[in-house]
Amino acid sequence: MRDPVGYLERCRRRYGPVFTLRWPGMPPMVYFAELGPIREIFRASPDVLRGGESNVVLDFIAGPRSVARLDGAAHKQRRRGMHTPFTRLGPRYAAAMADNTLREFSPREGQILEFRAASQALSLRNLIQCALGVEDPARAERLHALMLEFIARSLNPVMALSWMLLPGASLRAFMIRRVAPLTRRGWGKRVRFAALSRVIAELDALLYATIAEARRELHDARRVDVLSLLARGDEALRDEELRDELMAILVAGHETTSTTLDWAIIELCARPRVMARALAELDEVVGEAAVTVDALPRLRYLRAVLYECLRLHPPVPAVGRRVATATELAGVSLPRGVVVSPSIALLHRDPNLWSAPQRFSPERFLDEQVDRASLIAFGGGTRTCLGKPFSLFQLQVVLATLLTRFTIEPVDWPSARLVQRGLFTGVSHPVRVKVARRR
Ligand code: HEM
Repeated sequence: MRDPVGYLERCRRRYGPVFTLRWPGMPPMVYFAELGPIREIFRASPDVLRGGESNVVLDFIAGPRSVARLDGAAHKQRRRGMHTPFTRLGPRYAAAMADNTLREFSPREGQILEFRAASQALSLRNLIQCALGVEDPARAERLHALMLEFIARSLNPVMALSWMLLPGASLRAFMIRRVAPLTRRGWGKRVRFAALSRVIAELDALLYATIAEARRELHDARRVDVLSLLARGDEALRDEELRDELMAILVAGHETTSTTLDWAIIELCARPRVMARALAELDEVVGEAAVTVDALPRLRYLRAVLYECLRLHPPVPAVGRRVATATELAGVSLPRGVVVSPSIALLHRDPNLWSAPQRFSPERFLDEQVDRASLIAFGGGTRTCLGKPFSLFQLQVVLATLLTRFTIEPVDWPSARLVQRGLFTGVSHPVRVKVARRR
């Protein structure tokens, strides 16, 4: 947990590019660290390798009915319905994302702030607005506060162990039905996890209210958020399915994106030469103006900085596919029930694919013959991250807005390490910075 990538690197040195890890209560996980077998895994038939089954750990967090938990024809159909909303989302909300960035940082000019908390708040705010379509400030604030509390309370070691070892969906239902009401009777402090149960129940109620509102506004053409597009889609999704999708989007989308932004600021502040090149490009392409959709394709260096952050610090270090039918891969026979796991973190540090892989060098994405298929931060095949276009779009708009409008200086930084934080990786410390107006 303290050093997830270092640990995997030691396993690779000791056992080679294919090795098995066994965790209590989970099926054996066979890690693959070479491009060939990883490509085979991504291309394999979903009847043989099943991604939804390997995501069972999401049941407590997001519920069992989101796209991430489906397999086969149901997965294919749900993805088809979600793909277009996600690809259209970024451009439609570019101005809102830039505005939210200014709103998050402008009031704090001249102050020292914890960048990690600010970036998390910003990416959550963007998702609540763009994916859920919540415009009412009071509801957006409440959802925001509940999500942060939910994550903070459900990621303590005892809770994490419970939702990994027990059937997550039943545990969740039990907490809502039986434990949450105890807080109303004043037993909240005495009963373990009562506060978390209350947060889950309130979050559910608010999400169902948001879904009901989207259904009432189905014919409002101004609503172009993911929830509205899903509610209007061909697949008539039930409220419970929509709720699970919204939770999955909020959980999968906000920390992954904000952690990438944290790393971008850390790497840029630590490397004056990289920062100077990014600023020179921004001055030429954006100048004093607001960051617009048209400017993004010309921000090649900024994009390379983000790719390099995703390579060296992948928020999701590995993905999984459960073996449904015994099969063989790269000469390894895989019995039914084990999970094969393409190791994103190890592939991204493979010296056969990347020159000086430990070095942070955005230039590799501009000058070298990098095979883009080796960058698998968003997974691959039929399960490639649905939020990829939206996330990359958001990262570019937010980072470009931040760097053109503000100067960001590090304040007493310890050296940043990649650590495991709940389901994803994150930065080891809060990243204190001083923000000042640039123009
Ligand atoms: C830097 C940001 C992000 C990274 C690195 C990332 C990474 C990933 C990865 C590795 C997977 C698993 C893919 C596989 O199994 O092959 C995934 C799946 C998924 N992601 Fe993301 N993600 C990011 C942002 C987002 C955002 C912003 C959203 C939503 C707004 C999102 C929604 C999803 C969904 C719904 C899935 C499940 C897809 C499926 O099972 O078919 N992600 N993501």
